[in-house]
Amino acid sequence: MSTTTGSFIAGGIAACGAVTVTHGFETVKIRLQLQGELQSKKEAVRLYKGVFHGVGVIVKNEGLKGLLRGLGCAYIYQMTLNGCRLGFYEPLRNALTNAIYEDGTVQSFGINLFSGAASGIIGAAAGSPFFLIKTRLQSFSPFLPVGTQHHYKNALDGMRQIYSAEGIKGLYRGVGPAMVRTGFGSSVQLPTYFFAKRRLVKHFGMQEGMPLHLLSSTASGFVVCCVMHPPDTVMSRMYNQTGNLYSSAFDCVYRTVKSEGILAMYKGYFAHLARILPHTILTLTLAEQTMKIMKKVENRILPPELKAKL
Ligand SMILES: *[C@@H]1O[C@H](CO)[C@@H](O)[C@H](O)[C@H]1NC(C)=O
Repeated sequence: MSTTTGSFIAGGIAACGAVTVTHGFETVKIRLQLQGELQSKKEAVRLYKGVFHGVGVIVKNEGLKGLLRGLGCAYIYQMTLNGCRLGFYEPLRNALTNAIYEDGTVQSFGINLFSGAASGIIGAAAGSPFFLIKTRLQSFSPFLPVGTQHHYKNALDGMRQIYSAEGIKGLYRGVGPAMVRTGFGSSVQLPTYFFAKRRLVKHFGMQEGMPLHLLSSTASGFVVCCVMHPPDTVMSRMYNQTGNLYSSAFDCVYRTVKSEGILAMYKGYFAHLARILPHTILTLTLAEQTMKIMKKVENRILPPELKAKL
C-alpha cells in the first residue's frame, strides 16, 4: 500500500495523462451537446456533424489549440475528483464493511457501489466550478461558436469573473446535475471494472496483466457512458447558461425533450464514448503503473517508522 498522499499523486498523474489524450473529444462533445439547444430538428443548424467531423472542423479553423481549450481546468478538475475518489473510497468502504459485517474483509457489491458513488459525488461537488469554467472555455470558438461565448483567459480569470458577477452561487451553477452525473458514473465504474476482471479470470482463464486491464476497463467504459450521458448533457446546458434559461435541471430535461425529442439527451454520445473509452482504459492502466512506481519511491524515501505503519 502507498500512503494516501502517494496514491493521490500517482492517481492524479495517471488521470492527467489520460485527460491530455482525450480532451479533444470532450471539446467536440460539449459543442455537440449545445448545438441546436431548444430548437426543433428542422430549424437547428448543425455546425458540427459528429465526432470526427467535429474534430476536423475544430482543427482546421482553430488548430490544435482549439481542441485543447480548457485543458488546464481539466487537470485541476481531475486532481480534485480523483483525489476525493482515492481519498474517500477505501476509508468509506472499510468503515461500512466493518459496521455491517463481523468479518471486515468481506467484499460487498452494494458497499463498493455506494462508496464509489459517494466519493465521486463529493469530488464532483468540490470540482464543479472548474468543470463549469472548462465547459465554457471549450464552447468558446471564434469561428463556429455554440453556446454563450464567455471570454475567460484561464481557470483563475474565469473564477474571478464569475465570482465578481454572480458570487459563490455563480461558481456552483449546475452542481446538481454534475453530482448526479458523476454519481452515476462512479457508481458503475469500479464495480463493473472489478466485475469484468473477475469474470474474465474465471471464465476465460485470463491472468493479471495489460490485456486483462484493457478488456475490463473497456467493458466498464461502455456502461459508464450509457448511464452518465443524459445527466452530462443537462450539466453542459446548465453550465452554458448565464441567465436563467432553465429554472432547474428538471426544467432543462423537460424542455429539451419537448423541443428536441428524447434522443437529444444522447447528443454527443459518440464523442463522449470516444473520450471515455480511452480515458477509463488509460487512467486505470496508467494508475496501475504509477502506483507501482510510487510504492517503490516511497519505499526508498520514507523513514522506516512511517513505512512500518503502511
Ligand atoms: C446558452 O445559454 C444562453 C443563456 O445564457 C442561452 O441564450 C442559449 O440558448 C444557450 N445555448 C446555446 C446553444 O447558446
